[in-house]
Amino acid sequence: MRYRMTVIGSGYLGITHAACMAELGHEVLALDIDADRIRRLGAGQLPIHEAGLEALLRRGLDSGKLRFTTSYQEAAEFGDVHFLCLGTPQQQGAYAADVSQLDAAVGALAPHLGRECLVVGKSTVPVGTAERLAGALRRLAPAGDRVDLAWNPEFLREGFAVKDTLGPDRIVLGLRTASAEKVLREVYAPLGDVPFVVTDFATAELVKVAANSFLATKISYINAMAEVCEAAGADVVRLAEALSYDDRIGGRFLRPGLGFGGGCLPKDIRAFMARADELGAGPALSFLREVDAVNLRRRDRTVDLARDLAGGSFAGRRVTVLGAAFKPDSDDIRDSPALHVAAEIQRQGGRVSVYDPVALDNARKACPELSYATSATEAARGAHVLLLLTEWREFVRLDPAELGAVVAVRHVLDGRHALDPARWRQAGWRYRAPGRP
Ligand code: UDX
Repeated sequence: MRYRMTVIGSGYLGITHAACMAELGHEVLALDIDADRIRRLGAGQLPIHEAGLEALLRRGLDSGKLRFTTSYQEAAEFGDVHFLCLGTPQQQGAYAADVSQLDAAVGALAPHLGRECLVVGKSTVPVGTAERLAGALRRLAPAGDRVDLAWNPEFLREGFAVKDTLGPDRIVLGLRTASAEKVLREVYAPLGDVPFVVTDFATAELVKVAANSFLATKISYINAMAEVCEAAGADVVRLAEALSYDDRIGGRFLRPGLGFGGGCLPKDIRAFMARADELGAGPALSFLREVDAVNLRRRDRTVDLARDLAGGSFAGRRVTVLGAAFKPDSDDIRDSPALHVAAEIQRQGGRVSVYDPVALDNARKACPELSYATSATEAARGAHVLLLLTEWREFVRLDPAELGAVVAVRHVLDGRHALDPARWRQAGWRYRAPGRP
């Protein structure tokens, strides 16, 4: 069964979801209120860097299965299923999530919903949001009770968004009616054999933040071990390796280093704490405060180590920062640990030059005070310290001898444990990495 569906919100999640649904054979109309973005998407131009997505976008456009609009009326008339893919960033000055984009979208869509349809939330939301939105839809939609709601969180990773959407580990459906379950099982049927977990609204909402909190905790756990290793003169990389052989622990998301950033993990653990507080369950998540604190301390520690390598002060020192994106294979700089460190070093008097293979445009907008180079070699020219802060493959493969010829001083700080220390030391570099002797 192929559906006529809309995807409301054309950001990282929405574009990926829309293009993948068209790939599965559904007829998809994607909406955003940003007319320029919609015009570019309609012309096959992807506003983000995401592997494999541009090809999918073009294929959807060429086949006519994927179209774009800014009109809620057109969306409401077209779709039998409406996916909500709006951003829920951290509120200014608070931990809680800002759900205003989601509320605005439902407020704009609902008055046009004149016939039976299913609205499906995919955004990450504070538990209780689906219940509230179900009420709003009933109140605002002319079709009233014939507008059903389901919550279907996404778990895609940036850089693997297409792969994760077309080959998910599991599909979680929070719903209240058998018909919603039937529709969503049919929508995802072309994916083949994927485990479904069918729950109530609240559980589905919680699964997402619980998963991200667990991942954040794993990363901060190994980074807490890095702090202890530093104090004890031990090696956190070998420690993590040894832990990883225990199946019960596993090695994934146990990479020590500069810690987590991006548009999800940091804001999700904070929003989760804020919501648990409201529900009177704050103490259950007090450990997440520590997870957040350990993570932020990694950034300070990286700045401190870089300052040591620069001779105790950044004043007059040229500092090269390799990496601006919050992780490799992405141009996303939201809450990027790399950019945070770069900006702090500049604030402390360093002359920072940043290079990133794809995130430079976004970085320039977010941190116009930094200098940007067009290659790793250009960024490294005359440097007193070189920092690797996002582990792009191109940086891992850098030739330390070649780079050594352009820097002023061969001092490298490997913030992601991505370089081979022996190779760099052989080429005459002083190599430092947090959590290693
Ligand atoms: C995350 C979740 O993985 C995904 O399931 C969810 O839907 C959205 O949030 P994403 O933000 O794309 O995805 O990035 P992810 O790959 O999870 O990495 C998050 C951060 O953790 C990055 O900054 C990365 O560098 C860091 N990280 C990851 C570590 O520091 N160590 C690790 O071992 C793994």
